[in-house]
Amino acid sequence: SANSMWGGRFSEGPAEVMERINASIGFDKKLYAQDIAGSKAHCRMLMKQKIISKQDGEQILKGLDTILREIEAGDFVFDAKLEDIHMNVEARLSTLIGAAAGRLHTARSRNDQVATDFRLWVRGALDDLDLAVQGLQAALIDQAAANAETIMPGYTHLQVAQPVTLGHHFLAYVEMLGRDRGRLSDARARLNESPLGAAALAGTAFPIDREMTARELGFDRAMANSLDAVSDRDFALEFLAAGSIIAIHLSRLAEELVLWTNQGFAFVELSDSFTTGSSIMPQKKNPDAAELIRGKSGRVIGALNSLLVTMKGLPLAYGKDMQEDKEPVFDAADTLLVSVTAMQGMIADLKARPDKLLAATTAGFITATDLADWLVRELGLPFRQAHHVTGSLVAEAERAGCDLAELPLSKMQAVEPAIHGGVFSVLSVEKAVASRRSYGGTAPDQVRAQVARARERFL
Ligand code: ARG
Repeated sequence: SANSMWGGRFSEGPAEVMERINASIGFDKKLYAQDIAGSKAHCRMLMKQKIISKQDGEQILKGLDTILREIEAGDFVFDAKLEDIHMNVEARLSTLIGAAAGRLHTARSRNDQVATDFRLWVRGALDDLDLAVQGLQAALIDQAAANAETIMPGYTHLQVAQPVTLGHHFLAYVEMLGRDRGRLSDARARLNESPLGAAALAGTAFPIDREMTARELGFDRAMANSLDAVSDRDFALEFLAAGSIIAIHLSRLAEELVLWTNQGFAFVELSDSFTTGSSIMPQKKNPDAAELIRGKSGRVIGALNSLLVTMKGLPLAYGKDMQEDKEPVFDAADTLLVSVTAMQGMIADLKARPDKLLAATTAGFITATDLADWLVRELGLPFRQAHHVTGSLVAEAERAGCDLAELPLSKMQAVEPAIHGGVFSVLSVEKAVASRRSYGGTAPDQVRAQVARARERFL
């Protein structure tokens, strides 16, 4: 039998596999609250514009409220034969209130309806994600404050470079996440226009009020072009793009946690709540949450790619291809939330091991740059020459099997006669760290200032 919503020109129903490829209710039922809110706004507008009668409108509004309650109570039966959330709700409305239900879809199409529902849903997802990322920033800032003086090696090429503080390192991620939140809020501002009233693609001959429905749904304005309103999913792409960058930031931090919990580093300890044991090796404490966050970033990036490829080459206006927009977005939203939240828990519980962090700075001649800077400052050497002299001193220390600070003055003077005992004042990691007081630098007092600014900017 033909479809009750659009079956007029059909004498036969769909093939079983057609129903399966066509139905989206399995996933788009997630849009129920947005669908009902959109329908209520549309209905009130139709009433105000006298496009439908007050009596019909009131019945529709009441019916929609009933449906919302039914869905939330788990009493609603979703039917794949009715394809999607829009038709499931409308069919139920018609069972509940009869003929008046048929007037709701006046001056509307599923094309502007789904664009509206999805925008509202993504808007909520942006807000939820922003809040979660802020929570992670708070945990990182607390750790940064607690570790403003905890000295560790800073790396380039994953080779020991210069000493930094652990607090400084955590604050680097706070900044990344701050830009991530900026991207979410930029995306939200562009997203927040209403497609409702674009109808199928061309607008409508009914005297609708698009600003009214826009306002009622919390949009800033009505979208300016009806073809654009039903055709683009750039708002979902922006969510996925911003989300992918968040996933990458999380993945880098996760990778560092995996590295730092490795026995060769032993820089930090994760709590029991965020690690797992092994079923065979009794000694194990594995950083599974960090590994999963690192792994899940692939899903989010995959979701972005999936929707980019779906949209590429689609002619205007609506095409059913666009029904494929939802699953990647839903999956990415869930994945991002669980990842950010797990990372927050891991960071909040993390215990730094200052002894191990400090011990790691004794390898790799970590104060070599400080020595070169001293040669420039105290002896007036050009930096390039100071670099060369320091390189020779490093080679000398390497031959002697000692650190730069342990190299006897006589050996240093054999390389550069002007060097005097004052040089030892810059060869300790504490002095090296404390001296880097430039804006944004790693000195403890700078880190404490960054912590204070970060609290103000982000929390
Ligand atoms: N389920 C559809 C989607 O997600 C709703 C829009 C259908 N519109 C249409 N003309 N068939 O895109």
